[in-house]
Amino acid sequence: MDFNDKVILITGASSGLGAATAIYLAKLSAKLVLVGRKETNLKRIALYCEKSKGVKPLAITADVNEDLDAERIINETVEHYGKLDVLVNNAGVIGMGGIKNSSMETYDKVMTTNMRAVYHLTMLAVPHLTTTKGCIINVSCISSTKPSTMALAYNISKAALDHFTKCVALELAPDGIRVNSVNPGFVKTNLLKDIGLNEEQLAMFVANVVGNMPLKKAVEGDEVAALIAFLASDKAKSITGSNYIIDGGSILR
Ligand SMILES: NC(=O)c1ccc[n+]([C@@H]2O[C@H](COP(=O)([O-])OP(=O)(O)OC[C@H]3O[C@@H](n4cnc5c(N)ncnc54)[C@H](OP(=O)(O)O)[C@@H]3O)[C@@H](O)[C@H]2O)c1
Repeated sequence: MDFNDKVILITGASSGLGAATAIYLAKLSAKLVLVGRKETNLKRIALYCEKSKGVKPLAITADVNEDLDAERIINETVEHYGKLDVLVNNAGVIGMGGIKNSSMETYDKVMTTNMRAVYHLTMLAVPHLTTTKGCIINVSCISSTKPSTMALAYNISKAALDHFTKCVALELAPDGIRVNSVNPGFVKTNLLKDIGLNEEQLAMFVANVVGNMPLKKAVEGDEVAALIAFLASDKAKSITGSNYIIDGGSILR
């Protein structure tokens, strides 16, 4: 696979799966747009990508929840590269609690980042993706279909995202735009950093999750990145409206 001529925008590229995807695609010579709020982290990943093949990414410090920032992300991308080929809607947050012990603040924060921001950025990207006959990859989660009690708002945000993927895939197919999602199981990233567990509790939680995975291993970020790269490539030219699970078999029980 070679993305030499492709402009790929990744939200949430300053950490975790977004950073892993940026690094993976940089090795395949992609022209990258990296988006995140934490400028220092974003610049560190951008530099890492540049060292790979000498292609300097465009790093945009922005909050995808802010409408003006979303407009700026798309405008700066097109001003800089003249086009957009692939949008990876990866930025996401988790909020803990079920219906008895979460809050409307949690609901609003999670739904805004994981769904509203994706809706808005996609809307803004579509005219440019129409020109390039590009594609969209949304980063969902196995919790979109596997019920659990720990993070209700997060689970339903990802269920909404899966349906968004399918509806938009159907709408945009006549324009030659493909839309798919990747749905990972547990990956060690910063996602769970703010869920209120100390380091020891977090380590126990992770050991428990991994122990329950049939393959007994956490998914690695670059495995998810490879799946995203495949879906972004011409090898996936007949694939649209699909949700791709990558979870070490977690969903099987
Ligand atoms: N880790 C897992 O086990 C797992 C499993 C399934 C799905 N996922 C999904 O994978 C995606 C990435 O998560 P991760 O695990 O890589 O977590 P992470 O390490 O915490 O990374 C989250 C990324 O999203 C960005 N972000 C969050 N809110 C943002 C906002 N308002 N504006 C701009 N950027 C924002 C963060 O940027 P800043 O830090 O710069 O703000 C960061 O780069 C999420 O959609 C998540 O739901 C993760």
